[in-house]
Amino acid sequence: MIRSTVAVRSIVLGIGLLGLALAIPLNRGQAGPDATSAERKPAVLRGDSDVVTRVGNDSCLARGCHGAVGPSDPTTGHFYFKGGEASTWRTFDPHARAYEVLLNSRSVKIGERLKVEMKGQKPHRAKLCLDCHSPGLDVKLEEERDHAAVAVGAGVDCEACHGNASRWLAPHVSATWPQSTDKTSSDLKASYGFKPILALEERAKLCVSCHVGDPTKQVNHDLIAAGHPRLLFELDSSLSALPRHWQEPHEKPNATVGPTDFHAKAWAVGQVVTTEALLDLLKMRSQAASQGTAPWPEFAEYDCFACHHNLATPSWRQAVPSGRTPGSLPWGSWNLSSVKALGQISSNAKVTDKPFPLDVLMAEMSQPTPDTSKVSRLADTASVWVKSLRDSGKLASMDVKRVESLILALRNPAAKPENWDEAVARMLGLVSLSKAQVDLGGQPIGQDLSREIESLKRSLQFPSGFDSPKVFQP
Ligand code: HEC
Ligand code: HEC
Ligand code: HEC
Ligand code: HEC
Repeated sequence: MIRSTVAVRSIVLGIGLLGLALAIPLNRGQAGPDATSAERKPAVLRGDSDVVTRVGNDSCLARGCHGAVGPSDPTTGHFYFKGGEASTWRTFDPHARAYEVLLNSRSVKIGERLKVEMKGQKPHRAKLCLDCHSPGLDVKLEEERDHAAVAVGAGVDCEACHGNASRWLAPHVSATWPQSTDKTSSDLKASYGFKPILALEERAKLCVSCHVGDPTKQVNHDLIAAGHPRLLFELDSSLSALPRHWQEPHEKPNATVGPTDFHAKAWAVGQVVTTEALLDLLKMRSQAASQGTAPWPEFAEYDCFACHHNLATPSWRQAVPSGRTPGSLPWGSWNLSSVKALGQISSNAKVTDKPFPLDVLMAEMSQPTPDTSKVSRLADTASVWVKSLRDSGKLASMDVKRVESLILALRNPAAKPENWDEAVARMLGLVSLSKAQVDLGGQPIGQDLSREIESLKRSLQFPSGFDSPKVFQP
């Protein structure tokens, strides 16, 4: 039990992020500028090439570019200042130390336990880990240079999120680079390989590629059992937890957008995109399992506490209100309840559809040995349903009425949380939606809602001695 909670320790809530961020020294090792800039120059000049390649962080970190030193003040949560984006990233952002993490003792232990899967490689050299922790690192180059255990990787760096820069580096400092954020401008920038991540949907897809996984990279129960934290993602709280080096459109000094539905939209878009990513992963896993190359069913997709808990009689776990057979595997506990709530405000993706694709899939996944080809098919059908939710246009803008109906849907007594995952998901949803309700000029949060959020928070805490969240500050 104790170790199972290791994995949920650092979930979306970003607990302790500030303390962690503050511990990052200013002069952490980056790729050595002298050795690398000469090799990288040709790539910069290849402005017209069709091949988009990495340029490396050094190009962004200069003081006159994004590396200005300025008035970040973590005590007030004020991290953004123009021209200082790279300084904020380097000093405060956990992504800047994602490579160094692979050298710490926890990673070394994970590596030892997964010796076979890692083919004898150390975590900081293994594709399995680098794909998420330092996607730009050229392992071959590093080995040639024999950089034994020096922190040379840049972690999750500028290009990991903004796109490889060989084609956009030169144009983006020219006067003709569009400053506006309309569709034509962002299409133009995208044609240079610059990722359009201002729109929440595109941004969510970027985050979930590492924070949920995709068919090319994942954190499964093998990695978790070896010591990796469990991956749980919720967009709005993750954005709040990051020391952001940018301003959202409504935060800009010349903002034209008024009272904002940002938190509601970020929550809703995040739920939908996360669910799509989970379904893609499920499909990939079911196909790999049918070829005998992956464990099945994949335990990381179920409620952890279904298997990792102390046995007690009587236990609240024995009361399963949804009618699931006691003892069956609770799949999809992380976000199904939230997407179902979203279905209630959508006109073309109905939760009343019979049979309801997510329930059919859940029923199959609750079997001791789900049928892999059936699951693959059902995941496709469920994806179509979730996509229709995204396309319904209801997520594009939220008014007070929609936000209030979502709060009601989440608080529906018939959808009472059945486990820890559902309770966290519900709490995060209620927090984001109630922020939006206030921002949109709706009713101030009622006492009963804030009482419910507080009581959810309390119920989610673990006793001391557990390597788990002790306080919740979404
Ligand atoms: C699918 C992407 C992905 C893969 C693959 C992956 N990680 Fe991670 N890792 C993450 C994310 C995301 C986090 C942050 C989790 C959180 O706190 O929410 C993380 C966190 C960690 C942490 C905890 C860091 C801390 O600050 O406490 C360690 C240690 C770690 N990873 C090591 C590894 C090792 C070793 C491997 C390879 C065996 C690996 N990771 C593979 C995405 C990944
Ligand atoms: C984890 C992903 C991530 C990483 C890593 C990252 N960024 Fe960003 N960045 C974003 C997002 C999301 C935005 C907001 C959307 C936008 O403005 O396109 C943003 C916005 C920006 C902006 C616009 C700021 C504003 O509001 O005026 C600049 C400039 C920028 N980033 C530079 C950098 C630099 C330089 C680095 C590397 C040191 C970097 N970013 C690393 C995700 C990232
Ligand atoms: C290339 C992979 C990658 C991408 C893309 C990415 N992240 Fe991360 N993220 C990581 C890894 C790896 C860590 C763990 C780093 C560490 O422990 O120092 C992490 C850590 C975090 C943390 C701190 C988690 C914790 O519990 O301490 C937050 C918050 C976060 N990411 C949010 C985001 C958001 C929001 C986006 C999208 C804008 C994003 N990330 C995009 C890989 C990624
Ligand atoms: C279907 C049952 C099942 C589910 C669901 C499950 N696990 Fe496990 N887990 C196991 C088994 C079996 C072992 C191996 C126990 C042993 O070796 O003694 C294990 C081992 C582990 C270990 C290492 C050993 C230990 O007990 O500390 C960790 C950590 C862990 N699981 C975390 C998780 C997390 C986090 C989740 C949810 C994402 C999860 N597990 C979901 C069955 C499950």
